[in-house]
Amino acid sequence: MTDALTADHARGAGEDSSRPAVRHFLKDSDLSPAEQAEVLDLAAALKAAPHSRTPLAHGDARETVAVIFDKTSTRTRFSFAAGIAELGGQALIVNPGESQIGHKESVEDTARILERTVSAIVWRTFGQAGLETMARFSRVPVVNALSDEFHPCQILADLLTVREEFGTTAGRTLAYIGDAANNMASSYALGGALAGMHVRLCGPQGYRPDPAVVEEAQRIAGETGGSVAVVDEPREAVSGADVVATDTWVSMGQEGQKSERAGAFEGFRVTEELMALARPEAVFLHCLPAYRGVEVDADVIDGSRSRVWDEAENRRHAQKALLVWLLQRAEASSSFVDRRPEVSA
Ligand code: CP
Ligand code: NVA
Repeated sequence: MTDALTADHARGAGEDSSRPAVRHFLKDSDLSPAEQAEVLDLAAALKAAPHSRTPLAHGDARETVAVIFDKTSTRTRFSFAAGIAELGGQALIVNPGESQIGHKESVEDTARILERTVSAIVWRTFGQAGLETMARFSRVPVVNALSDEFHPCQILADLLTVREEFGTTAGRTLAYIGDAANNMASSYALGGALAGMHVRLCGPQGYRPDPAVVEEAQRIAGETGGSVAVVDEPREAVSGADVVATDTWVSMGQEGQKSERAGAFEGFRVTEELMALARPEAVFLHCLPAYRGVEVDADVIDGSRSRVWDEAENRRHAQKALLVWLLQRAEASSSFVDRRPEVSA
């Protein structure tokens, strides 16, 4: 399952089959269940000892990681910048509108430039197809820092938070209430399934999960002992859950649909009353930014069961682990080719 999925994105540089595959992280299922566990173990180790791995430092020299944003960000931007610095490297942050990608220059040509310049490419963008193209033409790892379809770095942080709370992810039930068609819902389905969780996705009509994602997640869950279910009623979804999660009802790029969405999601706010149906030790997660009184009540997100600040902190640890893991494999595949002309002495 996952090997085939991985192979989809795993080569880079326009499918040059003479080179070993470079690993990318474009969606949650680009890692196998065992690989995801390895990354989470490393994340926990790096949280305990933040400066213990410096693969991006070579004496005084630092490698650069491109961190490119086509959409705005707080957590992703700061966590990658701080995390890359802790790994001994430097982040080159590119804000929305600051680069030529996609409007003045193709993604293919951008990849060809960046792979000669940086050690990894972290990209927050709109369509997943752009990330797939970037990965196809890049011999350095490409990481999805949020697309319209997936937010896999966030889910690694969430899974680390669940592990910290319960000791393990396997067998725990996560109920996601809200826009079940968005990037967070899809990544919870895939990432949760990989981690052996029971994932329940609950959204109103018109905002239910992508059937293709559910099908893939259910196939993965069949291997890990987890499950993925689409549930129509919020009360049924949270009943007996260990984790209750939500996200904004209006994702980036959907601002024009704000009023129609506000009506559609009535009854899907996470309230204290809803939380009371979850297990007594259940915790609340939200990737943030949050809109209090809209998708979640203030007494839930600011209450004792909320773990949102740990979750936000865990972005840095999880992403550092992911970068270490990807860079190790990129090195093993000797991705860098020195194409400079020889200079005679
Ligand atoms: N959760 C998250 O990705 O936050 P930012 O949009 O602020 O990066
Ligand atoms: N679904 C939200 C997540 C923000 C981190 C969005 O895409 O805007």
